[in-house]
Amino acid sequence: MEPTNPHAPAGSATVVIPIDAGGWGLTWANDDTGRLHQIGAGPDGATAGLDVDAVWYPTAHPTWGDDSPFLPAALRITHADGTTTTRLLLDGVEREPHIDGEDITVRCRDEQFALAVAFRFRTHPASGVLEQWAEIEHHEDGPITLHDHDSLALAMLVGAEAAATQFGGSGWADEWAWTTERLTPGTKVLDSLGGTQPHLQRSPMLMLEPFGPTTEHAGDVLGLSIAWGGNTRFALDVRPRAGQQQRDLRLRAGANPLGADYVLDPATRFVTPTVAWTWSAVGRHELTRRFHAWTRARVLRDPERLRPVVVNNWEATFFDFDEARIVDLIDRAAALAVDVFLLDDGWFATTHARNDDTTGLGDWHVNPEKLPGGLAALADAARDRGLRFGIWLEPEMVNPASDLYERHPDWVVRDRREPRQHRNQLVLDPLVAEVRDFEVDTVRQVLESAPGTSYMKWDANRPVTDPGSRALPADRQSNLWTDHVHATWSVMARVAEAHPDVELMLCASGGGRNDHGTLRWFHEFWTSDNTDPVTRVRMQWACTHWFPASVVAAHVTAWGERPLPFACAVALSARFGFDLDLTALDDDALAVCRRAVATARRTQDLVQFGALQRLVSPVPETPDGPTEPLHRAALAFHADDRRRSVVFQYQLEATTAAPPTLHIAGLDADTAYAATGSDLTGEPEVLGSFTGAELAAGALPWTPAAPTTAWIVELAAVEAAPNADAV
Ligand code: DGJ
Repeated sequence: MEPTNPHAPAGSATVVIPIDAGGWGLTWANDDTGRLHQIGAGPDGATAGLDVDAVWYPTAHPTWGDDSPFLPAALRITHADGTTTTRLLLDGVEREPHIDGEDITVRCRDEQFALAVAFRFRTHPASGVLEQWAEIEHHEDGPITLHDHDSLALAMLVGAEAAATQFGGSGWADEWAWTTERLTPGTKVLDSLGGTQPHLQRSPMLMLEPFGPTTEHAGDVLGLSIAWGGNTRFALDVRPRAGQQQRDLRLRAGANPLGADYVLDPATRFVTPTVAWTWSAVGRHELTRRFHAWTRARVLRDPERLRPVVVNNWEATFFDFDEARIVDLIDRAAALAVDVFLLDDGWFATTHARNDDTTGLGDWHVNPEKLPGGLAALADAARDRGLRFGIWLEPEMVNPASDLYERHPDWVVRDRREPRQHRNQLVLDPLVAEVRDFEVDTVRQVLESAPGTSYMKWDANRPVTDPGSRALPADRQSNLWTDHVHATWSVMARVAEAHPDVELMLCASGGGRNDHGTLRWFHEFWTSDNTDPVTRVRMQWACTHWFPASVVAAHVTAWGERPLPFACAVALSARFGFDLDLTALDDDALAVCRRAVATARRTQDLVQFGALQRLVSPVPETPDGPTEPLHRAALAFHADDRRRSVVFQYQLEATTAAPPTLHIAGLDADTAYAATGSDLTGEPEVLGSFTGAELAAGALPWTPAAPTTAWIVELAAVEAAPNADAV
């Protein structure tokens, strides 16, 4: 018997909706009842045609109670009258040009309720990243409740070898740990309840290899980033197919709905986070190239501005400093000819002086006992020595032991219980308008108190834990999880707009807020408090799959007590700086630092703006890979015009394995490149010259031998000798 169309009879004409994301894409189409199906996804996804009626293709975005009742719903709503099902029909498609791409809006309405859902796609053909989100609005008789509200719900066929890679560790100082696992039948949920500190659980990025392991330059790999500054969730539902190797995968991504039911009033709009994603059919290098291009073009502030070399005092002094000590550090920073001196936590509050992390947050006036000349004296000292001045702030937080809390105990995120303290502090509630104004004003006043300050580190040392707000009525306290992110972003947007010349670093107790959503108002982020260079190589390896190195702040510290030249070499492959007690360094160590700064001057444009080439991985990248971390790493950054490059080689640990061959692809095959190398213990040595073809074939030798040593090779195209015959 022929199967029957579950929706017949009906009569909607089929509308085919191609979404061309630049070299790959999606196609949706409606069946004859108006329900949307995913006709294609992947390298040929935007040109997929209908072989059979659309009804036989997977549902595009499953809703609770529609025709895929056995699939987890990407959208689950309780309507105003208590109905728990939602059935969406196509209502129209709008396409508008947007920069080099398109904004595509697929409008749907519920079969019966006055509920509209717009599926939004923003293409970026130049980078090949697609932004996708959903907008929900209604005119029912009362509020509705959104329980699940994913941004996307992709259907795919995957192989038995399909693998997913997540990034995260066990908590503080364990960001970006790499885990690749095979996908097996069942639902795998990769979520975070870390809020502003997703790194306490996992980063909001996922790499998916639908047909098994890929390499840098071969194989299908999807990359997804949930651009959200709150809790996130990826859910991968895998189902076997009888008698087939292939399996059905339904991948959902968006804000984590756990505890985050959203009560939505009539005529108001709920916008899900944007998920930025891409599908490379040629391996991970292309995935990274796309994410870097998109991050630079569409996310980052001032992407073309070379990020400075920063000296931070945090690990040199912690809370224990006075003006003389800071000026001494500024002197040393100036002697190294860096760009910015950044004064970290501990400079403020009087009644509850900030001498440790128990007091003072919220009282953003300088502590005259520590700094009698105020911040202005330090900003002047920096300027007089040729440096820019930067300041640390944590504007969203308050210690109960503070004047601010005594004045405004009702300004904090809390429910009726005594709020839990975390790092001895509470979160100010940005849903309260005065709080938002206070935060914006705090930044302004602090910057004005030290004229010329042009750099700021915005920290957040705790997540939301006691979700409640006096700005929300009793029946919508769970809206806080969503509203908190939007309100915080609105504060950040005001700050960025008010201080366009101040470079902003994101930090959240280390590498929190390493997400593409929050980054829009910032120039870079602190990648992790873990600066042990051996661990950092692995973290930076993972993080730079998604973010250009200009964003990835990396400071030389004493963590791990590794050799200083090695620590410098690791920090030099990201946005370089120091967080060391420069006053305690002997002449040899200072000479290493000076060489590192000189290297930064020659190479940071390559590192920050160049094309990343990954050469030797320090992490096990396949489910069957070694269970122990790998012991070496190498990467290179090529200039866009391929005239220069810098290659970093790191020997992390001792190994008996033979040195790797470095296949440095991407340079001009026929061009000769002069190579100089250095391990930062001495001046760079001339190594000879190699053509691009030789470099691709593996001509550059592996040099570092001892554990925790590095080798930095700079390559520069040799200009052809002038042709004597030329006129
Ligand atoms: C956490 C950050 O990650 C550190 O770098 C430092 O700024 C401290 N907060 C200060 O409290």
